[in-house]
Order: sequence, then C-alpha cells, then structure tokens
Amino acid sequence: MKRIAILGTGSVGQTYASKFITLGYDVMVGTRNVSEKLAGTAKDGFGNPPFREWHAANKTVKLGTFKEAAGFGEIILNATQGVNSINALKLADGNNLNGKILIDIANPLDFSKGMPPSLLPELSNTNSLGEEIQKTFPGVKVVKTLNTMWCGLMVNPAMINGGDHNAFISGNDADAKGKVKEILKSFGWLDKNILDLGDISSARGTEMYLPLWLRFFGALNNGAFNIKIVK
Ligand SMILES: NC(=O)c1ccc[n+]([C@@H]2O[C@H](COP(=O)([O-])OP(=O)(O)OC[C@H]3O[C@@H](n4cnc5c(N)ncnc54)[C@H](OP(=O)(O)O)[C@@H]3O)[C@@H](O)[C@H]2O)c1
Repeated sequence: MKRIAILGTGSVGQTYASKFITLGYDVMVGTRNVSEKLAGTAKDGFGNPPFREWHAANKTVKLGTFKEAAGFGEIILNATQGVNSINALKLADGNNLNGKILIDIANPLDFSKGMPPSLLPELSNTNSLGEEIQKTFPGVKVVKTLNTMWCGLMVNPAMINGGDHNAFISGNDADAKGKVKEILKSFGWLDKNILDLGDISSARGTEMYLPLWLRFFGALNNGAFNIKIVK
C-alpha cells in the first residue's frame, strides 16, 4: 500500500486524507501537536467542526506530528497555512523530505489585515511559496498543483462541467510531475486538461491568481468554479 503524508489538519488536509483512503493509500496526517489537536473543541475560522470530529469519523487515517508524518510518507502533500508552510516543513525536518515528491497546494495568503487576504509580499511577484520551498529544501521534488481552486474540486473535478476544466502543474523534476499527473488522473482529471506550466518559478502565476480567485468567490458566493482555457 502506498504511504502518503498529508501535512495539514484543516479542511484541505481532511479532504485529501479522505480521498486518498478511498483510493487505497495508507494515510498519515501531520500536525504540530497531536494531543492538542485531538483536544481542540473549537470550530475553525470558517465554521467547520473541530478536527477531532472529523478524525473520529475517519479512524483509518493515522495522525502524527509533522515529523512523524513526513517520515512515514513516501509522498508528501503540503496542506498547511501558506504563510507558515516553511515553518511546518522545517518541523517535518528536511531529512524526512529529501528525495521525495512534495505536492504543494498551499497559497501564501496573509489574513492578518482582514478579508480578503493578500499575498505575502516576500512570497509573490518575483518569488512564490513553491519556489521558496524548493530553495529551502533543495533535496525535495516540489510539484505545485491544484492551488487554483476550492479543495472540493481538487479531488472531484467531475463536480462541474463534466470534469472539463483545467489544472496546472509546476516543478523542476519531469519524472515527479509525471507521477503527480497520474495522481490527478486518479482524482478524475482529464490528461488533456492538466497543463504543465514549466519549472517551479511558474508557481508565481498560479499563486498570484488567488487575488482574482477571491474576487470571483466574492461575486459568485460559491467556491465550485474553475478556469477553462479556450483558444
Ligand atoms: N480551502 C481551500 O479550498 C483551498 C484551496 C486552495 C488552496 N488552499 C490552501 O491549502 C492550505 C490549507 O488550507 P486549510 O484551510 O485546510 O488550512 P489552514 O488553516 O490554512 O492551515 C492549517 C494547517 O496549517 C498549520 N499551521 C498553522 N500555523 C502554523 C505555524 N505557525 N507553524 C506550522 N504550521 C502551522 C496547522 O497546524 P496544526 O495542525 O498544528 O494546527 C494546520 O495543520 C492553505 O495554504 C490554503 O491557502 C486551500
């Protein structure tokens, strides 16, 4: 059974963990502090139930520290808060990441100045979170993908337009991108709709789409929409 580590306990981490279980993976979710996470009873900022409720209903998902999860996973998925992802990955320990594929779906959104959030200046325009992760952990094969849509759609593209819309992929390692593409196809993404944007610097483009995504969301009041490229 293929082992995957999902770093992140929010709604995105939960969505991926559930999906990978249904696909037959052995899944461990990573957090900063396991006992604190299981003790929490507060809803998150979006009104979602506490992690413990989700975990009680998803007992086959293992829970460990970021470090334990990264050590466990053959593949790592970063679903941590983007402005804190580097910190979370340092807690995971680069030695547990080296040589592995790291699927990065996080966005460096700064909520500290209210809604809508803005991109962290040092991780945008001439930089991106995807690149920053690659620079900080050169032994990791970072593949940025699926960060341009609501998490429900990431793992279930068939939800809208018969699955005919686009996902993007960025990364320096062609083999790693090929493997991640196969994972996307297992979610239902059509091969023709997975657009390879090039090396990890192309993550600047997908991360900088977020300010527009947030305005679409504000206008539509619904997250189940996506980009379809027409020529
Ligand atoms: N919601 C969507 O549909 C969507 C769509 C596209 C991309 N994304 C991206 O997906 C990622 C996850 O989003 P989310 O809403 O599920 O969760 P989130 O609230 O953005 O992140 C939760 C995770 O971040 C960790 N974290 C928070 N502060 C930290 C710190 N100071 N140091 C280390 N780790 C820290 C938390 O650790 P603990 O477990 O210890 O609390 C938790 O695991 C984000 O980067 C978001 O931008 C979300």
